[in-house]
Amino acid sequence: MKTIIKNGTVVTASDTFKADVLIEDGKVSLIGQNLPSEGAEVIDAAGMLLMPGGIDPHTHLDMPFGGTTTTDDFYTGQTAAAFGGTTCHVDFALQQKGQTLKQGVEMWQEKAEGKTIIDYGFHVAITDPTEASINEIPSLVDIGVSSLKVFQAYKGAFMVDDTALYKAMEKARDADIMLMTHSENGDAIALLTEQLVAAGKLDPGYHLDAHPREIEGEASARAIALSAVTGAKLYIVHMSCSDSIAQMALGRDRGYNVMGETCTQYMFKFEEDMRVPGYEGAKWACGPPVRTPEDAEFIWESLRNTTLQTVATDHCSFNYEGGVDGKLPGKELGKDGWHKIPNGIPGIEDRMPVMYHNGVNSGKISLNRFVAITSTNAAKAMGMYPQKGTIAIGSDADIVVWDPNKEHTISAKTHHMNVDYNAYEGMQVKGMPVRTIIRGTTVVDNGKLCVEKGFGKYVNRKNPVIV
Ligand code: URP
Ligand code: ZN
Ligand code: ZN
Repeated sequence: MKTIIKNGTVVTASDTFKADVLIEDGKVSLIGQNLPSEGAEVIDAAGMLLMPGGIDPHTHLDMPFGGTTTTDDFYTGQTAAAFGGTTCHVDFALQQKGQTLKQGVEMWQEKAEGKTIIDYGFHVAITDPTEASINEIPSLVDIGVSSLKVFQAYKGAFMVDDTALYKAMEKARDADIMLMTHSENGDAIALLTEQLVAAGKLDPGYHLDAHPREIEGEASARAIALSAVTGAKLYIVHMSCSDSIAQMALGRDRGYNVMGETCTQYMFKFEEDMRVPGYEGAKWACGPPVRTPEDAEFIWESLRNTTLQTVATDHCSFNYEGGVDGKLPGKELGKDGWHKIPNGIPGIEDRMPVMYHNGVNSGKISLNRFVAITSTNAAKAMGMYPQKGTIAIGSDADIVVWDPNKEHTISAKTHHMNVDYNAYEGMQVKGMPVRTIIRGTTVVDNGKLCVEKGFGKYVNRKNPVIV
């Protein structure tokens, strides 16, 4: 099966050039000028950019969390991702108490089974850090898992102490697994929560007071220090503010094996959005919380100067008005206390257009940097490069045909995510995917889904690198 994409402009993390791209058996087989098209399906991409499909390294599909379950399953979440130009994601398989890590992955494989649209991998999130779980870490490489998340927050649920974090880092280092942390000080959050709730401070805005920026900075510094001592590769997820990102800059300056991820929402949603009268602020409850416009500027600068290397979504969808008409309970669970709001914000569909429009069109980042932070760096950090994350001979033909002039207004009324609100509601973006191609097959073409459930494939990952 041969396909040729003609007349487009190829954009990778390093180069931009006009070329035809030949695809054979799902892989890029040739890139060049005026390639012959005999025997191939021809896609005319005149005026279009050809970019590696987006890779979202941080999602939560069909995840039990906060007293309910995220509303997007592997079918709706991955369909939405494909419409937004994302061709691969890495979801978190959460070990349940009493389970082995492998059982956690098997549970998530079952959730994905028969529902997939795009390619995917799993991180393991260790939540029951027994000696047996920690000893099991090296065997994750045998099932294609090259990244492991440890929570420094969510005391009483997922949080592990520093002893477990340290031991997990030693095992991850020996097995060449990327150790990921959710870096907030869970002890402090638990105490602050108790105090705020006891004082009757129950509105959504108090979520911010329980998650001060300093404790994200502190936990990040702690994780970085432990990574420096153990030599483990460290990837801090969802970095939200200058306090933590400054620690990342310091760690990288010192040459430690550390890198950081931010998420789209931290550049567009702020504390003031959570402190509105009424309950609306619950939509933006997530951990770490949304911060300030100044933090957003700091994040953009950190993406530019390579302190931060990836932009994920932390896609974690709960309806604002859940629990009715057969819908799963959602954000309304916290109506009598912010501490019961399920944490998370949806965005798997919007990351690429939002980052392109606000980053590239505004001149904040170059086109090549856009590709790096939305695809290539995630592929490298997650052990998928060069199979994924670039357009090169031998790579999977995961290509997004991007119309830089197509305009679109983002809205919950038209999005494909299974959730009743959108973080970027009303945002007018210029630059949209018009065709999403995975392994040479068109998955979405001009607003139409072209593959059946089950198309997406599990990606075996290994040898993650710090970018
Ligand atoms: O609020 C968030 N981030 N929800 C998802 C779970 C996590 O910590 O990533
Ligand atoms: Zn987290
Ligand atoms: Zn998350």
